[in-house]
Amino acid sequence: METRSLVGSGVQLSVLGQGTWQISARGAAADEAIEALRRGIELGMTHIDTAEMYGNGDAEKLVGRLLRDGGVRRDQVILASKVLPQNASYGGTLEACDRSLRRLGTDVLDLYMLHWPGSHPIAETMRALEKLVDDGRVRALGVSNFDVEELEAARGALRHHPLAFNQVLYHLQERSIELNLIPHCEKHGILVVGYSPFGQDRFPTGPKLRVLEEIGKSQEKTARQVALNFLTRKPITVSIPKSQKQGHTEENSGGAGWRLDDDEVQAIDRAFPLRVRRELPML
Ligand SMILES: NC(=O)c1ccc[n+]([C@@H]2O[C@H](COP(=O)([O-])OP(=O)(O)OC[C@H]3O[C@@H](n4cnc5c(N)ncnc54)[C@H](OP(=O)(O)O)[C@@H]3O)[C@@H](O)[C@H]2O)c1
Repeated sequence: METRSLVGSGVQLSVLGQGTWQISARGAAADEAIEALRRGIELGMTHIDTAEMYGNGDAEKLVGRLLRDGGVRRDQVILASKVLPQNASYGGTLEACDRSLRRLGTDVLDLYMLHWPGSHPIAETMRALEKLVDDGRVRALGVSNFDVEELEAARGALRHHPLAFNQVLYHLQERSIELNLIPHCEKHGILVVGYSPFGQDRFPTGPKLRVLEEIGKSQEKTARQVALNFLTRKPITVSIPKSQKQGHTEENSGGAGWRLDDDEVQAIDRAFPLRVRRELPML
């Protein structure tokens, strides 16, 4: 699968990755989830997104299990995790990262980010993220749910490592980041990692679904594959659908590796118009 480069670190992110929020981390469903992640990696969806918040650390432990006894080597995946805003003081960030590394069973995170803006001064959090990069515990640093002004404050607080990515909500019915945030990120080489590409469980239905199905027909793609392709059509965007079913993951992997033509992009534009928001939308 095609990859996109993160500035400063050389980390290569697969255009489609795999999310782990609300993934089943126990019992038979966890075995199924591991199998789906493993299959996704085999298909090139090597960017695995997790967070200390997900299942109170259980999602990170599940990814750790995937690496320990799921038949996946550490060097076959790009691991991303997040520090919660309430932990994001200087010392708190360093400690949170250590805990995440332990749960994942690895020495280094490829991507590490602040989950959303909080009350600790951003300069403290950025200083901690830079220290983690200096110490070789993190390869690329970034943020999540940051709007333009917040991004600029974060960038301004960094001393010697670039802000490599911003993970934000991006699906067909929530495209407002295309107005200002994506152009701003394009200008500064900040990769946009779009989350919840299916709107969690609000994938389009009715006439809107039929638009996607109709477009998919000519290229033998499903509506979800069309959606993922649209969301990753710009070289600055990647997407991280979550699935714990192997069949769904296989379907999702088919969202990359081909291109919608201009007429198809315009048809999607018309069916899912951009709406201006006063604030950056987030889940
Ligand atoms: N930074 C943030 O604040 C933030 C916020 C939200 C999410 N995220 C990240 O982004 C990831 C993705 O977002 P998300 O989990 O909110 O939602 P999503 O990826 O938009 O949707 C996940 C839902 O879609 C279903 N699904 C996936 N592929 C499918 C397919 N081919 N056919 C039918 N159903 C399918 C999944 O069910 P199955 O599992 O049963 O397939 C699950 O119910 C998260 O897991 C997380 O890693 C980050």
